[in-house]
Amino acid sequence: MSTEHSQEVARVFDEWAQAGRDEGMADRHGLSARPVLEELTPAADDRFLDLGAGNAWAARWAQAAGARAVAVDVSPEMLARAREAQPAPGLVQASFERLPFADRSFAFLFSMEALYYAEDLDQALAEAFRVAETGGELHALVDYYEGNPASEGWPDKTGVDMHRLSPEGWEARLTEAGFTDVGTARVRSGEGESWRAEHGSLHVYGRKA
Ligand SMILES: C[S@@+](CC[C@H](N)C(=O)[O-])C[C@H]1O[C@@H](n2cnc3c(N)ncnc32)[C@H](O)[C@@H]1O
Repeated sequence: MSTEHSQEVARVFDEWAQAGRDEGMADRHGLSARPVLEELTPAADDRFLDLGAGNAWAARWAQAAGARAVAVDVSPEMLARAREAQPAPGLVQASFERLPFADRSFAFLFSMEALYYAEDLDQALAEAFRVAETGGELHALVDYYEGNPASEGWPDKTGVDMHRLSPEGWEARLTEAGFTDVGTARVRSGEGESWRAEHGSLHVYGRKA
């Protein structure tokens, strides 16, 4: 799907990648996501999908843990950055509203600070559910959510529309998409900006029964 919205998102993140901003983002996001990733236990050869992967740092983590990782991003320049670090995971330029994968392909779906950029969030979650294996898990972290006042102005800053959901709103959307064992939790980090300790990232999770 190449809509005006996804082209605008790709343009913004192409510029970020060309300016080298992917690295700082990966460092900050890595700190927030580490406790969640460390709880995931991909078995050898489990398939791991990183949605809105940026420079694919999380997919590389999964690969190092033994999984077969694929990173999806709509921004070609982010994927070019991802290609620079070897061994690179599988890299696919696509929108998470239209994933070029067969049904039930992935044991783990991960996304850091990306899903709320979807033009059609329900379609993105439906796609995540479709490509999850039976028993597969979705783990998404977002910093732009109702309950984190520090992120309120981000759409104006970036010039891109975003979905601002409450924790309950995220749970409802995952449930609607078909996920079970749905929940949310704040993941607070003692490092970085003060809101990371006070409010933290919102971990949104669910399973495909
Ligand atoms: C804030 S960055 C986070 C990148 C990476 N997950 C990280 O933690 O460093 C958001 C990423 O999501 C990607 N993105 C946004 N909307 C997307 C969509 N509809 N489909 C695929 N990727 C998307 C952007 O291109 C960007 O690389």
